[in-house]
Amino acid sequence: MLGYAFCGSFCTHRRALAELRNLREANFDVLPIMSETVWNTDTRFGRASDLKQAVEELCGRPIVHTVAGAEPIGPSGNLEALIVSPCTGNTLAKIAGGITDTAVCMAVKAQLRSDRPVILALASNDAMSANLKNIAALLSRKQVYFVPMKQDDPVSKPHSLVADFSLLSETLRAASDGRQYRPLFL
Ligand SMILES: Cc1cc2nc3c(=O)[nH]c(=O)nc-3n(C[C@H](O)[C@H](O)[C@H](O)COP(=O)(O)O)c2cc1C
Repeated sequence: MLGYAFCGSFCTHRRALAELRNLREANFDVLPIMSETVWNTDTRFGRASDLKQAVEELCGRPIVHTVAGAEPIGPSGNLEALIVSPCTGNTLAKIAGGITDTAVCMAVKAQLRSDRPVILALASNDAMSANLKNIAALLSRKQVYFVPMKQDDPVSKPHSLVADFSLLSETLRAASDGRQYRPLFL
């Protein structure tokens, strides 16, 4: 089974949902996970209830959305890979700093406690400012992989990087072989 975790990069949820659909069509069994922010927040990009419904229908399982709900991922050890898509700057920084106060961070910690792969599809306006050091830290962390990313708008958002979500499945395949898919920066 795969884990597929949504963080609060609301403008990329449509793309993340499309990749989740691709994984389900490729017959992956998927445990859906949401950060508390995603679980509770309506934005101009959509309503939380609509996203929850779409994700639960696709996965055929209830969404894990609390720290207590995500904790059993560690002892059960049954995720062959955990995909965080999208991964916010907030969650990236917490993973790098060993902070575990959301369902997604708990799922990542649980997965990494037994050296199982975690794949991050980052989307953050501070990826090349406040969070650049955290990308560097996680690039050298065992079993952490990134979906290749690019500067989506170098003029208006000079510090932003966004994953190319269409490379998620290939990144997963490489990670399953213990490799970071490259090029990492597009
Ligand atoms: C409309 C909206 C869009 C946002 N987009 C992003 C984004 O693309 N990337 C990001 O890192 N944070 C974004 N944020 C901020 C995160 O939602 C915020 O840091 C939140 O605490 C993340 O929590 P999580 O990482 O637990 O999901 C956005 C917030 C809002 C309200």
